[in-house]
Amino acid sequence: MSKNKNIIEGRILSFDESPFNKDFDVSSFKVDKKRIFIIDGIIDSIGPANINRHDFRDVEVADYGDHLISAGFVDAHVHYPQTAIIASWGKRLIDWLNVYTFPEEMRFQDLNYASEIAANYINFSLSNGTTTMASYCTIHPESVDAFFEAAAIRNMCVVAGKTCMDHNAPDDLCDTAQTAYDDSKALLERWHQKGRAHYAITPRFSPTSTPDQLSALGLLWSEFPECLMQTHLSEQVDEIDWVRKLFPKARDYLDTYETFGLLGERGVYGHAIHLETREIDRLSEVGASLIHCPTSNTFIGSGLFEMENLALRSVRLGLASDIGGGSSFSMLRTMASAYEVAQLRGFALHPAQLMWLATQGSAKALHLDDQIGNIAPGIAADLTVLNLSSTPVISQRSERANNVWEELFPTIMMGDDRAIAATYVAGKKI
Ligand code: GUN
Ligand code: ZN
Repeated sequence: MSKNKNIIEGRILSFDESPFNKDFDVSSFKVDKKRIFIIDGIIDSIGPANINRHDFRDVEVADYGDHLISAGFVDAHVHYPQTAIIASWGKRLIDWLNVYTFPEEMRFQDLNYASEIAANYINFSLSNGTTTMASYCTIHPESVDAFFEAAAIRNMCVVAGKTCMDHNAPDDLCDTAQTAYDDSKALLERWHQKGRAHYAITPRFSPTSTPDQLSALGLLWSEFPECLMQTHLSEQVDEIDWVRKLFPKARDYLDTYETFGLLGERGVYGHAIHLETREIDRLSEVGASLIHCPTSNTFIGSGLFEMENLALRSVRLGLASDIGGGSSFSMLRTMASAYEVAQLRGFALHPAQLMWLATQGSAKALHLDDQIGNIAPGIAADLTVLNLSSTPVISQRSERANNVWEELFPTIMMGDDRAIAATYVAGKKI
């Protein structure tokens, strides 16, 4: 069969090493105009601009001029079922869940409704340059099928799982320890590594799972250790107090997971704001992933993630919108919020660090960096093309820039979907 080939040209932004490394040299970092040669959706090579490869001589070049081509954004923690309740006013976490989230999630037993929202969610994300996401679904297996099907039609690399809850939630949103195990196992066997799909075992958070359910899901993870496990950790002070009452014997919030086999290197913990020293040490010891959700943490009033401190530890750090607790589908807006939150803690995140968090950082946090999150041979051609002059305000600022970082930063701070000139999934323009 003949191979599908394409060439994309523009200024390429990719990283050989993390800009959080102490010796990362921001000033000598090069963003040159280059060509990306793609075969069957995978990056085959990267070469100088205007020079063609012999075996690509009949292939048309998509030349994006001075636009910046980045790896597609990776949104490492979202709830696609909350798409329609984004920007719901006036509540903090527990009330926000009860008043807005749970009633909406009840609707996802209807496969048609789940499919409609999954398509909306994915289209909003793609138009913002996000090509991979790790999503919570609802307790309904239909919601998981709907999401993976919507992603498969578009050939997207995604992570998702059935959200498990067996108490402290409305009856219609509760499964049991046994059905959580059985449903999750069946869905995992149906979807994990089918095409570009990856299953994540997904207890919502320890307040809505009994010890029996946590332990059933811990058992499932031990049976499928290659899967990710995603959950929430230490998001809001009231939530942590509640966890303390529900699990009086636990040393801390993290311990409520560890006790039941839900702490590990492939564990992905959302929010992780109010961590105790023991928790940080333990997360670092196992090399777990922590996902920063800045627009959500400010919108729901949760707190300020300790980026500077945590970046020095051997945890994996990712960035996420946390739709619908988060207030934007845009990873540009999410980076801006991460910048603002870090500033409130006295740390200025560099644009290189922000872009890295939204691409490679999140890909590493999801253990998918061998497939996505970079522009390098062997990685999928999931790409975002950024116009750094997308509005008059941004343009008049970026025109004064002395280097690429200064040119990019106004787009990070003020950009939205207008800055996304194109999104590619597996080499195909969407
Ligand atoms: N903690 C438990 N469930 C949720 C959720 O849906 N959103 C957020 N932001 N936090 C949670
Ligand atoms: Zn969440």
